[in-house]
Amino acid sequence: MIQLFHVFKNFGSNVALRDVDLRIREGEFVFVTGPSGAGKTTLLRLMFGAERPASGHILINGINLNRISRTKLDLLRRKIGFVFQDFKLLPRKTVFENVALALEVTGERRSFIRKKTHQALRLVGLAEKQTAYPLQISGGEQQRVAIARAIVKDPLVLLADEPTGNLDPDLTKDIMVLFRSVYMKGTTVVVATHSRDLLEDTEQRTILLNRGRITG
Ligand SMILES: Nc1ncnc2c1ncn2[C@@H]1O[C@H](COP(=O)(O)OP(=O)(O)O)[C@@H](O)[C@H]1O
Ligand SMILES: [Mg+2]
Repeated sequence: MIQLFHVFKNFGSNVALRDVDLRIREGEFVFVTGPSGAGKTTLLRLMFGAERPASGHILINGINLNRISRTKLDLLRRKIGFVFQDFKLLPRKTVFENVALALEVTGERRSFIRKKTHQALRLVGLAEKQTAYPLQISGGEQQRVAIARAIVKDPLVLLADEPTGNLDPDLTKDIMVLFRSVYMKGTTVVVATHSRDLLEDTEQRTILLNRGRITG
């Protein structure tokens, strides 16, 4: 479960989040939406512990992110998959290596890492691109590598920031199907998007942000 209590976040005089109160249940699928600059990315980064709130509290499964050590935060992050808006793939590593890396930090056995990495790449439809380098594949494929990397560790929570950003409608649909299958396995999924198209035919809960405030 993800809980936010009266969370404020500013960057200098720029206020990104104002008094955000939020509760996302375990196994829920929610969209965070709102115009550019509304605070969506900041909200996700706070949930990942990549930013600290100026005031207020964030709890992940009852653990207060303000109160835990760096080591414990690293451990907690292993259970959270994050799909970054700009992918953050390593250009000198292959598709396979980029995904496997997410598991190598956990100290799992090689054979296990190989198996899980293949599974994740199959799930996103990239099994045959595993030896390619990020710059040799399309933007949509890079996006799917970023998703495979986030889900390979079977996270409890999947946070995705504009995951369909620059994709065409068909690929967008594929990726939403992918997220839905992750959600069906019991993972909590939070997708930030400014795109109305994504929300059109969905019954999922939608949190609307405007200038850092939840307005719906
Ligand atoms: N690292 C940063 N430094 C300064 N201002 C930032 C930073 N990150 C976000 N902001 C500001 O915080 C506000 C919310 O940004 P962001 O969370 O990126 O919104 P969104 O993802 O909805 O477009 C914006 O006004 C943005 O300019
Ligand atoms: Mg953003």
